[in-house]
Amino acid sequence: MNPKERMKQLVDILNEANYEYYILDNPKLSDFEYDRFMQELQELEEKNPDLVLPDTPTKRVGSSVVSEFKKVSHLYPMLSLGNVFNEDEIIAFDERIKKQGFNPTYVCELKIDGLGVDLIYENGVLVRGATRGDGVVGEDITSNVKTIKTIPLRLKEDVSIEVRGEIYIDKEDLIRINKERKMEGLELYQNCRNLAAGSARQLDSKITAKRNLKNFVYNLPNPVDHGIYCQSDVLNYFEKLGFMVNPKRRVCKNINEVIEFINEMTLKREELPYDIDGMVIKVDDVTMQDNLGYTARSPKWAVAYKFPAMEVTTRLKDIIFTVGRTGKITPNAILEPVKLAGSTIRRATLHNEDYVKQKDIRVGDIVAIRKAGDVIPEVVKVIKERREYPLDEFKMIDVCPFCGSKLIRKEEEANHYCPNPNCDARNIEKLIHFVSRKAMNIDGLGERIIEDFYNFGYLKKITDIYDLKYRQEELKSLEGFGSKSINNLLDAIEESKNNSLERLLFGLGIRHFGEKSAKIIAQKFSNMDSIVKATFEQLTQIVDVGDIMAKSIIEFFNDEENLKLIEELKKRDVNMEYHGKKTVIDEDFYNKKFVITGTISVMPRDQIKDKITELGGITTESVSKKTDVVIVGDQPGSKYDKAKELNIEIWNEDKLLEMFNKK
Ligand code: IVH
Repeated sequence: MNPKERMKQLVDILNEANYEYYILDNPKLSDFEYDRFMQELQELEEKNPDLVLPDTPTKRVGSSVVSEFKKVSHLYPMLSLGNVFNEDEIIAFDERIKKQGFNPTYVCELKIDGLGVDLIYENGVLVRGATRGDGVVGEDITSNVKTIKTIPLRLKEDVSIEVRGEIYIDKEDLIRINKERKMEGLELYQNCRNLAAGSARQLDSKITAKRNLKNFVYNLPNPVDHGIYCQSDVLNYFEKLGFMVNPKRRVCKNINEVIEFINEMTLKREELPYDIDGMVIKVDDVTMQDNLGYTARSPKWAVAYKFPAMEVTTRLKDIIFTVGRTGKITPNAILEPVKLAGSTIRRATLHNEDYVKQKDIRVGDIVAIRKAGDVIPEVVKVIKERREYPLDEFKMIDVCPFCGSKLIRKEEEANHYCPNPNCDARNIEKLIHFVSRKAMNIDGLGERIIEDFYNFGYLKKITDIYDLKYRQEELKSLEGFGSKSINNLLDAIEESKNNSLERLLFGLGIRHFGEKSAKIIAQKFSNMDSIVKATFEQLTQIVDVGDIMAKSIIEFFNDEENLKLIEELKKRDVNMEYHGKKTVIDEDFYNKKFVITGTISVMPRDQIKDKITELGGITTESVSKKTDVVIVGDQPGSKYDKAKELNIEIWNEDKLLEMFNKK
């Protein structure tokens, strides 16, 4: 046997042994033999570096040290999940789906508390592992991923596939590693998730290799391309390919069975060797998933049930008030610092006057604090038994703590507002929002700097941002600002002028208006002037724009001050055009309402929807008298019957393509 053949043989033997040991938990090869084969392979690779195979297990001990990770784009965005926190919310999730005319079977899985990972295999060989990052762009951590023994380097079939899962670490490994770190005087890891994430993102993969990370896979972004039509089969297929799939999963015929399984797992949760922070409920059927679709961030066909959040108690030292950019006043609890779920909590929200009064929260009380996921910690209750002496009842303020204006409380609203549009606190919040990442994304203008510049008088209103360049010398002479940092800041400001319209639109801080809506409206109207002139009818015709949002937009552009702001920004060359694909007006599509039903094979459903939107059409989910066209694929549902009943124009896939292609 020549070295090449022998190397191939050794790689296969060792990878199979790894699979039997780590995935099947049923080792057949003795440790002694394993080590001997590994040594032989290492020697052969050293002598024949050109012949090293891409799936060699010798990389499992770590290979590279890098100074930073390469950024990589995901083929399909890595979405997150919406959260629900109790049985009622689980039932509401099911009801939302039922309302769309579906009666789904669910798959319920554990929500592993680790780090999401994306794995790409080409012809069965692992070629890339990447972190989620912001969902669109992640970090290439391939050499670290290769050290994780439960991630196969070669699959049992020679398929090209992209799969997603979670890198995690066992609880006992957290204890072990922390013990070692304590001995060495190093900082301890707060929980399994931090340790897993910290280890997976080590620049030296030899360190990662020592951490005993593990992995479960649970998501295939394009199941239909692999001939798979339900999530339960996705998981079975993953097992067949040699992945580790969590065995604690259940196919549930209805939501009651889901709840039953969740209750069972809630009791068993502590006994698991790893941490879970909840359960994931997914619609099993892929066609149904496609029909339900996605919000900007997460699928509508799946949801994460989060276990009741952890609570701790601490003393409430003070209540202070903050003002948001809309003028909303929020009472905040200042707390005796306390550790909770890995972070130190010093502040928690008290929401509004009613909240504090209903719970009778008083300064000096011992209170229970809860933190669920990434949400802002909140005070959940007072531990009344621990109230040692009489405390003063909470009293809401009646004037703005920043500008002294008398606060207003609109009928039927729980919130108080500062009505002064020139309130300093509101102005600062507006500026912070304008430069934030999802808005104009101006690097170098953090909250502190905005506050300082505001107080120095350099930055009072949005347009001042674009006039900072005339104060270069003054800024450079400020303590703490070098000429380099000011130059960088001014560059970032200039750069932001080229942003596509939706960023500016979102940055204006129109009430009830999110980044997704900004994008849709920017695309529809393509420039600022058309948006300023848009009527209520034009706005509400857009799917996703409801009456409240439309009213808020109209109100905003009816305000002289805001119109002046737009004109001033134009004078400063801030871009007012949408840069993405424009809406082309087409009479077969423009302003018409489309519904899609059944399996469409000619192109992905999302692409069809995008194309319809691009041509000026509107896509909706359910058929009504207002629907203009129903697009019917294979095995259409009840929507097709309804369309016939209402005499609505029906297009099959061929007709759809014809209509698209004539453009
Ligand atoms: S499904 C489109 N399933 O939880 C489907 N996620 O916010 C997206 N996670 O980013 C994810 N266990 O990192 C899914 N069984 C599971 C999961 C799971 C843990 C993580 C994942 C995701 C986050 C959801």
